[in-house]
Amino acid sequence: MPEVYHGEGFTCVLLLNDLGPFSYPREYNEVEVIPVSEKFWEMVSEAARDEAEAVEFYRQMANAAPCRALNHSIQEIMGDEMDHQAFFESLLCCREERDECRGKWEKREAHGRSIRIPEVSEPYPPIRVECPNPEYARLLFDDYAGMVSEMTAINQYLFHHYDMPEQFADVVELLEGVAIVEMRHMEMLAELIKLLGQPPMYMDGQGRFWNACYVPYLPGNPCEQLQSDIEAEQAAIQTYRQHIQLIDDRYIRAILERIIQDEELHLRLFTKAYQRHCRCRD
Ligand SMILES: [Fe+2]
Ligand SMILES: [Fe+2]
Repeated sequence: MPEVYHGEGFTCVLLLNDLGPFSYPREYNEVEVIPVSEKFWEMVSEAARDEAEAVEFYRQMANAAPCRALNHSIQEIMGDEMDHQAFFESLLCCREERDECRGKWEKREAHGRSIRIPEVSEPYPPIRVECPNPEYARLLFDDYAGMVSEMTAINQYLFHHYDMPEQFADVVELLEGVAIVEMRHMEMLAELIKLLGQPPMYMDGQGRFWNACYVPYLPGNPCEQLQSDIEAEQAAIQTYRQHIQLIDDRYIRAILERIIQDEELHLRLFTKAYQRHCRCRD
């Protein structure tokens, strides 16, 4: 079965292959999604809402179960409902043509295999600065190789990629793809720092060299790792926003704004992965 279809609606097929572990992946993966009526989309919306209500109902029921075995069985049923909910929501996501659905993060060849690269479609602005400026370089050094930085994100996601268990196969692939996007960000920051007049060594704005202890390794704890990946993206977005306020250079601002768009996509993808795998672990 081809992985990429052209034409309206066909990107959905690609998305369905991305949904992760399902109790019924084969039938759905064989379906070719074609343009359909408004009525169908209304029904999909209704189905998504119904599934969300069912999930909530089973969650309460599991909490009220009189013994652990019953709680466990009800949680399993709830897991199926969550898969159904994710399926309908993914259809709606296709319909809205959000970045996750438009095939923006297409598969690319690397190291003899294809890897999905989660970055938004908008091209990166040209790498340039208005004038050299050591103060702006200092701010960008923090984003480049400080504690909350692209350097930390790359190493964090790669370690989590190596350490994730088999059941998290979709997350294993996601982490590798996100790490590759962070490398692109790091490269752009290096070029900016050079244009601002500094050599892009692996240090923060205070001149402290990057340290491998910045990485929250959390070995053997995939859900905690995913949680820390979500927090890393949130922190990155916040720091980039602060730096946009402090840097009065329209070229640098445009680049940081564009990087934030990727980080927001990563945040959504990590959050979805957490919801898929970790929502019911307690
Ligand atoms: Fe990044
Ligand atoms: Fe990111």
